[in-house]
Amino acid sequence: MNIEASQHIQRLKRGVFHELMDRKRQLASQGRSLIDLSVGSPDQPPPEFVKETIRHHAARDDAYGYTMGALPSFNHALATFYRKRYGVSLDPDAEFLQLIGSQDGLAHLATALINPGDTVLVPDPGYPIFEVGVHIAGGEPYPLPLRAENGFLPRLEEIPTEVADRAKMMVLNYPANPVTATADRMFLEEAVRFARHHEILLVQDFTYSELVFDGKDSVSLLSIPGAKEVAVEFNSLSKTFNMAGCRIGYMAGNAQVLRIMATMMSHTQYGIFLPIQKAVEAVLARGESFIAEQRKRYQHRRDALVEALADAGWNMSKPPATMYVWAPIPPGWSSVDFTFLLMEQTGVIVTPGSAFGREGEGYVRITLVQPEDTLREAASRIDTFLKTEQPTSGSSVK
Ligand SMILES: Cc1ncc(COP(=O)(O)O)c(C=O)c1O
Repeated sequence: MNIEASQHIQRLKRGVFHELMDRKRQLASQGRSLIDLSVGSPDQPPPEFVKETIRHHAARDDAYGYTMGALPSFNHALATFYRKRYGVSLDPDAEFLQLIGSQDGLAHLATALINPGDTVLVPDPGYPIFEVGVHIAGGEPYPLPLRAENGFLPRLEEIPTEVADRAKMMVLNYPANPVTATADRMFLEEAVRFARHHEILLVQDFTYSELVFDGKDSVSLLSIPGAKEVAVEFNSLSKTFNMAGCRIGYMAGNAQVLRIMATMMSHTQYGIFLPIQKAVEAVLARGESFIAEQRKRYQHRRDALVEALADAGWNMSKPPATMYVWAPIPPGWSSVDFTFLLMEQTGVIVTPGSAFGREGEGYVRITLVQPEDTLREAASRIDTFLKTEQPTSGSSVK
């Protein structure tokens, strides 16, 4: 019997990420020395008190039932965090929704709101779930090019009026993966005006909210007047507090959207393990100094890598935020050819920019999830690579 995926799932490409992982596994099994700078999974543990909180609550006999969603104290902890950190007052009961990670929430949001054929404006390059979620729901992603000359912000005025009028949702992601840009208050105000005018739901993925460098802070979309009427904001504990494996995140903002999501999730999910929820409450209340350390750590790593690559003759600007460097590759290469040959020759694994959308061609994304010395070692291997390898003739975009 031949079992076929649904038509929506058939639209998902297997993608270069899988090819990259397959090749990485093969090289690892040959005993090659690899430096993996491809996946944005934090290499450091969360604060010690997070582990202690998990240990403490995991010892309780009553911690193992379904939680059926957020504990009331969880949403209160979020409301306090939002007020203190971003100056935004939200109703803990109606304006927050706990998620099994922002990835899962972003995927489900499209299913909850998008009908077959609906248009969704998505960043290009962008984190793949933005587009994939729309495909799963049967919608039509409409790419918004993010280009260096525009500070990697979409030019909203260049979106054709008929597209803006039919679009149901627009996804923003600042600080941005993979392009590392931040959005200032002026852009967010423009986005809210645009969304109100065209009646579009704004979806801001704020996963990298705290990984901002050089003494700056990021702006919550929900701090823009009127945003709650047209917007939801996703956030995650994964990157800020090194809790990616705990699989917990949340969304905040428009109560109507949150109710729709909650209805759907009440059929598909039974809540998150209580010790994890308790650990999040603790870290939201006591994690401020950890955030400062985390920023310093990534900023030092960023400086170490970008400066070592500059010594190797590969120049790029320092990213203002996130755990990535968005590096324009030397002319003549496709991002896929560059990535695969680099991996073969040096064991350094990066992600080709084209994996994030058409506009990502010409770049690779390098993650900062290794200690500074390892990043310098990667840069030294890249130095040798750049001195010895030339773009293969007919280097092509796969
Ligand atoms: C932009 C963006 N959103 C969401 C996620 C997923 O976060 P979570 O671990 O909360 O699912 C990632 C992970 O890399 C990401 O880069």
